[in-house]
Amino acid sequence: MSTLIKNISSLVTIHSCSSPFKAGKMMRDIGEIKDGALLFGEEIEWLGTTQAANEKLTSGSISPDKIIDARGKTIIPGFVDSHTHIVFAGSRANEFARRLRGATYREIAESGGGIQTTVKATREASIEELVENGRMLALSALKHGTTAIEIKSGYGLSIESEMKMLRAIKILKQELPIHVSATFMGAHDFPPEYKDNHQKYVDLICNEMLPAVAAEGLAEYCDAFVDQGYYTIAQAEKIMETACNFGMKIKMHCDELACVGAAELAGKLHAASADHLLYISDEGIQALKESGTVATLLPGTAYFIRLPYAPARKLIDAGAIVALATDCNPGSCFTENMQLILSLAVINMQMTAEEALTAATLNGAAALGLSDSMGSLEAGKKANFLILDVPTYEDLFYHFGINHVEHVFVNGRKVV
Ligand code: NIG
Ligand code: FE
Repeated sequence: MSTLIKNISSLVTIHSCSSPFKAGKMMRDIGEIKDGALLFGEEIEWLGTTQAANEKLTSGSISPDKIIDARGKTIIPGFVDSHTHIVFAGSRANEFARRLRGATYREIAESGGGIQTTVKATREASIEELVENGRMLALSALKHGTTAIEIKSGYGLSIESEMKMLRAIKILKQELPIHVSATFMGAHDFPPEYKDNHQKYVDLICNEMLPAVAAEGLAEYCDAFVDQGYYTIAQAEKIMETACNFGMKIKMHCDELACVGAAELAGKLHAASADHLLYISDEGIQALKESGTVATLLPGTAYFIRLPYAPARKLIDAGAIVALATDCNPGSCFTENMQLILSLAVINMQMTAEEALTAATLNGAAALGLSDSMGSLEAGKKANFLILDVPTYEDLFYHFGINHVEHVFVNGRKVV
């Protein structure tokens, strides 16, 4: 079954030219086709101008089963949200209200709240509850245009609870209409049982958790929170090396609360991505650029916990590969809406609309090793795209704070 969409006012392809990502200046090159046309089954079969499509129809070289008119609409690749924590239990609305009254994110964490609040609730929750919460957030993300999502564990911090989270993610992977990538993040914080013996918990991660996760094939990536008051460079290096030996790829939460040289470590280990980077150093920027590690920026977090934004301009101008993601989680950024992230990126991180689109699609796919099949609209890639109810892609940014997604197609099937 093939479908032709014609008269697309603005068709944003992000044409990758077979590269898995776009770095630096190339991020502005989004391959827009005005008055475009798109022919697809499960995969994209052809795209070009409506005039070229009409010629093909006349000559009989294409004969779609269905033709859709998209006058006044914009089509872009589905968003790839490469960093989320959407599997968790409980709410931190009261801690959020405390922050509005003046407490900081760090103060709440130091008083025993923060991640620990969610750890307690997640440990007590059944796997069914975790799946239900994750499903609700993932389906809401989908309605806002997300067609592939990464989900981390990290609110269990014991073998049983981390495995429970990862098994919940596996169920979501099987049942959701969108692609799900799974990340093990046992090194998200230290559990209360090991609060006075961090090294012993690092040993538990390396000697028991990682082998158990690998034996069940539950995670493609391993992540750690490398920051002041969390995991040290040495601890993270040990965990990441062990994860690599189990065939996992690396992601790292880097320099989110303070500059600790985490981005340099991500570069040294050739991590798939280094995320957050609010306090990245110039050396860190160079390290990411040289290693080809995707710099994943999460402006929703800077917004939500009122921190300075990551230096997106410096990263792009240095030639780095920048991606955008939500970081959706109950504490530091509770949104699953990628359109809001794009808005924050262009207004508060001085990214251009074109750079933001590339970052939220192709470069997000690169951060998950998915760009051979997703992240741009090109013949042979999956037909994962959004029909937006705006005449140009600029309008997506211009008219902010509302949901512009009219339809979402995943593998050629309309799911929204
Ligand atoms: O990505 N940085 C560490 N972890 C999350 C916050 C988790 C939480 O507060 O529950 C983050 O910002
Ligand atoms: Fe995170």
